[in-house]
Amino acid sequence: MNGEEAGAHPPVRVERRAVDEAESRRANGPDWDRYADEYQATHGEFLGDAGFVWGPEGLSEDEAGILGEVAGRDVLEVGSGAGQCSRWIREQGGRPVGLDLSYRQLQHSRRLDEETGTPVPSVLGTATHLPFADDSFDVVFSSFGALQFVSDLDLAVAETARVLRPAGRFAFSITHPTRWMFPDDPGEGGLVASQSYWDRTPYVEVDDETGQVSYVEHHRTLGDWVSLLAGTGFVITDLLEPEWPEDHDRVWGGWSKVRGLLTPGTAIFGATLR
Ligand SMILES: C[S@@+](CC[C@H](N)C(=O)[O-])C[C@H]1O[C@@H](n2cnc3c(N)ncnc32)[C@H](O)[C@@H]1O
Repeated sequence: MNGEEAGAHPPVRVERRAVDEAESRRANGPDWDRYADEYQATHGEFLGDAGFVWGPEGLSEDEAGILGEVAGRDVLEVGSGAGQCSRWIREQGGRPVGLDLSYRQLQHSRRLDEETGTPVPSVLGTATHLPFADDSFDVVFSSFGALQFVSDLDLAVAETARVLRPAGRFAFSITHPTRWMFPDDPGEGGLVASQSYWDRTPYVEVDDETGQVSYVEHHRTLGDWVSLLAGTGFVITDLLEPEWPEDHDRVWGGWSKVRGLLTPGTAIFGATLR
């Protein structure tokens, strides 16, 4: 479901079934390792080597301003990929650190560090076990990184709260929860609801040859997100649903103009720790 990258994947069959945190990680780390080269080749230019976009609609942090002031602040990007957003933060005067589950994604981050001359320190790790002391950051963010790939979301959000300083800012983008109802098809087929919005059973790809889970995505409703953030001590200040620009023809996996003009594809939450 992470897109159009069939060539990078072994033949898979799609299922809906329960998958725990360990199995999600075992599947998604290697999946992102396999897909990283193609992801960066396909989307790198759109993302910008030191650019910050929140999703396929192209909304930038410059426009959204959901993180607040970043200059002089300690900033953690979770699911940082090749670190494009963190590099933008650094150019605004912030002190970013990236964290990602995929070693290959981090190799791309290192490559861009060298090509741009704007390095971002990055670590291999998972959103559910952040290798940082309590109260280390003023801002934690994630642009389509990590949160929809973890099974133990309560732990990932608790970890975020732990490493944030009091009144710290948390913002993240995810596939808009209402997209769960529709097939992941950028064309007309992706406009017809075929699955319950309330069915949280994960989307799972299983390697046809080995029978092993090779990719997992987890779904939460909008209400789940609100309850979890509020219950972990966050005050939700923003829920952005970027509109698809009329002149934007780019297709990214299941995101397209056909669907984007009718239904939201991305949700961006902004919250402040109490
Ligand atoms: C769609 S990419 C987004 C990367 C980057 N934010 C961007 O905009 O290009 C998702 C990233 O999340 C990472 N990821 C997946 N599961 C993760 C986890 N449990 N912890 C940290 N990162 C994870 C993947 O390796 C991948 O680099």
